[in-house]
Amino acid sequence: MSRDILIAPSILASDFSKLGQEVRDVVSAGADWIHLDVMDGHFVPNITFGPDVIAKLRPHTDKVFDTHLMIAPCDPYLEAFAKAGSDIITVHAEAGPHLDRSLQAIRNLGKKAGVSLNPSTPESVLEYVLDRLDLILVMTVNPGFGGQKFIEAMVEKTKRIRKMIGDRPIDLEIDGGVTPETAPLVAAAGANVLVAGSAVFKGGSVESYAANITAIREAAEMA
Ligand code: DX5
Ligand code: ZN
Repeated sequence: MSRDILIAPSILASDFSKLGQEVRDVVSAGADWIHLDVMDGHFVPNITFGPDVIAKLRPHTDKVFDTHLMIAPCDPYLEAFAKAGSDIITVHAEAGPHLDRSLQAIRNLGKKAGVSLNPSTPESVLEYVLDRLDLILVMTVNPGFGGQKFIEAMVEKTKRIRKMIGDRPIDLEIDGGVTPETAPLVAAAGANVLVAGSAVFKGGSVESYAANITAIREAAEMA
């Protein structure tokens, strides 16, 4: 098991009053991707930000913008999130009846397509869309809030999805409750991208972000 681990800090846990600075700080602290949690108060019980905020953040870094849409419906907004500068757009399998159509729409916009599964959603929903996917995002908490406890049963799900992926060029990303303690579990199960919000942004300074990212990365790479 020697897959390079990518760390994708979620700005959900950052200081929203200075988002541009937070993005630059976490990039200089070693972030590989920037994870952008979009919530609509309908699909999930919380509201964050939309495409205009992402567009304003875009000039602050060249890093991959990993946009996680927790919205329903998602199809009417895909173009706006593409134009805002997302590199990857991930939709939830539970967000609508036409997952295949949404994934095609994302690729037709020239972006990488991802699908996310809530903790209770079985991996079987991926079976017939695997060839439309660039990324699979396994939720290891119920989406909506940062700082929740990692759900252990998702380690087995991650293993099964890694097997389903086979040698396809699909990233396997974990989101929720990732810490230096839980990172090795999901890395050993085959994940290669780790989202972390509270575990990265605690401390509130570039130095602490760097130490936090290093701790997660090293723990995952030891797995
Ligand atoms: C939850 C979001 C996550 C969240 C993770 O709905 O999708 O990206 O920010 O936060 P932590 O790492 O604090 O669990
Ligand atoms: Zn997320």
